[in-house]
Amino acid sequence: MYICICHGITDHQIRDCVKAGCARTLCDLQGQLGVATQCGCCEGAAMQVLHETLASPSRDAPQPRFPDIVSPPFAAAA
Ligand code: FES
Repeated sequence: MYICICHGITDHQIRDCVKAGCARTLCDLQGQLGVATQCGCCEGAAMQVLHETLASPSRDAPQPRFPDIVSPPFAAAA
């Protein structure tokens, strides 16, 4: 979905930029993608996508690691 019509920027482009670590603020998005730098109508929508992306866990982020299950020593003697 297009977020910024003036610059042809979609929500996917904003999410990709945030997930890549290139933007954490609207100012970052303005510098990286040009969002909300012309008419400004997209500022609210861009902020919403930015905050949703920052709040959601990334599929690329490392998942919590549980300790390995260690078999008791007597289990291997069978
Ligand atoms: S719609 Fe984004 S600056 Fe105009």
